[in-house]
Amino acid sequence: MTWTKKHLLDIESLEADEILTVLDTARAFKTVGERPIKKVPALRGKTVVNLFVEPSTRTRISFELAEQRLSADIINFSAEASSFKKGETLKDTARNLEALNADFIVIRHGASGAPHFLSRVIQAGVINAGDGAHEHPTQALLDVFTIREHKGRIAGLNVTILGDILYSRVARSNIRALTKLGANVTLCGPSTLVPKTFEQMGCRVTHDVDEAIRGADVLNLLRIQHERQRKTMFPGIGEYAQLFGLNHARLARAKPDALIMHPGPINRGVEIDSDIADGDRSLILEQVTNGLAVRMAVLFLVNGGKGPREVAGN
Ligand code: CP
Repeated sequence: MTWTKKHLLDIESLEADEILTVLDTARAFKTVGERPIKKVPALRGKTVVNLFVEPSTRTRISFELAEQRLSADIINFSAEASSFKKGETLKDTARNLEALNADFIVIRHGASGAPHFLSRVIQAGVINAGDGAHEHPTQALLDVFTIREHKGRIAGLNVTILGDILYSRVARSNIRALTKLGANVTLCGPSTLVPKTFEQMGCRVTHDVDEAIRGADVLNLLRIQHERQRKTMFPGIGEYAQLFGLNHARLARAKPDALIMHPGPINRGVEIDSDIADGDRSLILEQVTNGLAVRMAVLFLVNGGKGPREVAGN
C-alpha cells in the first residue's frame, strides 16, 4: 500500500495496511543502519522541529537521530527556555516555528489532542510523540515491529499488556495497532487501573495476573503513571509489585518463548524485577534500537516517501 498521509497523529486513524507499510519501510531502514554510511538524503533541505513540552529520553533522542540520519535540518525546542514561560500559546508557538519554515513538527505534550489541534492550525506536517493519556503511535509501531521481527507475524498472537492501562497512551496505541493486525490482546492490572470498559476496544480484561501471563506470546509491562493519576488508585508500590509485578515465580508460568517488553522508563522492582529486565528474554533495549528505524520510516513517509521499495534508492 502507498502511504498518502501528511501527519502521523494516532494509530486509530491508520488502516492495517498503512501500519504494515510503516513496518516494511522500517525494515528497509534497519538494513540502511547496517551499512558503513548510515545517512541518506531523504529529508535534505527539510526542517524538523522537535517540540517536547513533556520530558522524554527515548522518543526525543530517537527522533533526533532519525532526523540526522535522513539529513534534515533540526531544531530542538526547549519548553523550559521558551516563551511558553511568558504565556505564549501552543498555536502561536507553532505558527512562529512555521514562519521559520518548519516543514514538520514532532510534538510531545501533556494534553490529549494537542497534535491533532496543531494539525488543524498549521500547514506543517505533525507527528505525535505522545499526547497525554491518549496515544503514542511511534511507540506502538516500534513495539509491533519488534514483535514481528521475533515471531514473524502479529495475527493470532496472544499479547498481554500488564500495568497501568487507564493512564497509558502506550497501551491505547498498542491495543489499536495489535487488534488491527489480528492479535488477541489481554489487559491485566488492578481493577482501578484496568476497568472493564477497555473491552470496548476489542480486547479482553482480566485481573488474574497468573492467567494473563500463562497463555501469552508477548508480555508488555507498563509502569504506573504517577504523573497522570489524580488520586491514589492502589494501596502502595510494594503491594502493586507483590500482586502484579513480573517476578521469577510468575515468569516460570509463562511460555518459554514469551517475549518480555517494556516501553521504558522502567521502575525496577515494581512492574518488573531488575534481573528480568536485564535478562536474556528481555527486548527492552532492542525496542529502543528499533525505534530509530521506525521513526526514520515515519518521517520518510510523511515527507512523501511511498514505501519500502523507495528506501533502497536512497
Ligand atoms: N517510551 C517512551 O516514550 O520513553 P520516553 O518518555 O523516554 O520518550
